[in-house]
Amino acid sequence: MKTEEWETEANVMAALKELGHSADHLAIFDDVDLVRQKMESFQPDILFNLVEQFKNNPGFDQNIVSLLEMQDVPFTGCGSTGLTLCKHKGISKKILGHHGIPTPNFVVIPRGQRIGGPRQLKFPILVKPVKEEASYGISRNSFVQNDEQFRDRISFVHEKYKSDAIAEEYIDGRELYVSIMGNTRLQVFPIRELVFKDVPTNEPKIATYKAKWDEKYRKRWGLEGQFAENLDSALVRELERTCKEIYRLLTVDGYARIDLRLSPENKLYFIEANPNPHLAADEDFAESAAKAGLKYPQLIDTIIRLGMRAVRDV
Ligand SMILES: Nc1ncnc2c1ncn2[C@@H]1O[C@H](COP(=O)(O)OP(=O)(O)O)[C@@H](O)[C@H]1O
Ligand SMILES: [Mg+2]
Repeated sequence: MKTEEWETEANVMAALKELGHSADHLAIFDDVDLVRQKMESFQPDILFNLVEQFKNNPGFDQNIVSLLEMQDVPFTGCGSTGLTLCKHKGISKKILGHHGIPTPNFVVIPRGQRIGGPRQLKFPILVKPVKEEASYGISRNSFVQNDEQFRDRISFVHEKYKSDAIAEEYIDGRELYVSIMGNTRLQVFPIRELVFKDVPTNEPKIATYKAKWDEKYRKRWGLEGQFAENLDSALVRELERTCKEIYRLLTVDGYARIDLRLSPENKLYFIEANPNPHLAADEDFAESAAKAGLKYPQLIDTIIRLGMRAVRDV
């Protein structure tokens, strides 16, 4: 847990210690039986779930949670249904669209299907793997402006990421992150924003893989996470209300970060819901909670209490 890759796990373990819990950690790479074995030898009151992938596949986090549900062990964060609905960028948008929440127009293009034109969608379009996380598969080339680029990028996503593709109309505007915590009663924390300070105005503003993970690239283009400024209070209330509704419609519990775009006309668009978002102390979720007065160990403590109380939909 000394490397940056394990920062979240190290932060959470330190907080658990500070809170006076006796905690043990378990890494499962590709063997689910380890969970059962550990549960027999350690018998935890609750499992703090930080699983993001299984066998290097981020699509499997919900399956691990399903397994915990079947074993009837209390765990933190979101249940398997919420994880599944949020993971699929097409299904989540269909549910929200049905309930009148604005989302970008989109189409899902499954593998094995002939790739036609973008039909009713207007360029520019952003092409993404339908189920990835952390901006895997999202680069400057995901932003397409004509039929040829559209088809090329979709076959790239099909072949390179072995994933169905989703094509969404590109929404120009500010990139906002809304952190929410709770099972039934929800608390919304102060809103964060990713600003693209030195990206020229005619260039798209996208949180690509590099924009998230490459420190040099972030410096060069002036990408910075900060608290969102100059949002009037009526708009903040609308954002909070909409995000709570999204959280409930997608059956999220525990904690989540909802990503939105705010157009120059102040219209909101849902981009993605992230249940169990990154929990390192210096990431957006913990920063937002801290701003609301919840210090890191207290945040971890609240997440545990929510996990103990969660009524799992099984
Ligand atoms: N329809 C869209 N319009 C504008 N930007 C988008 C759109 N979809 C995604 N993005 C940009 O790409 C980033 C990553 O997309 P997202 O769907 O959140 O994928 P991931 O699950 O990999 O984080 C977003 O944070 C945003 O900057
Ligand atoms: Mg995202």
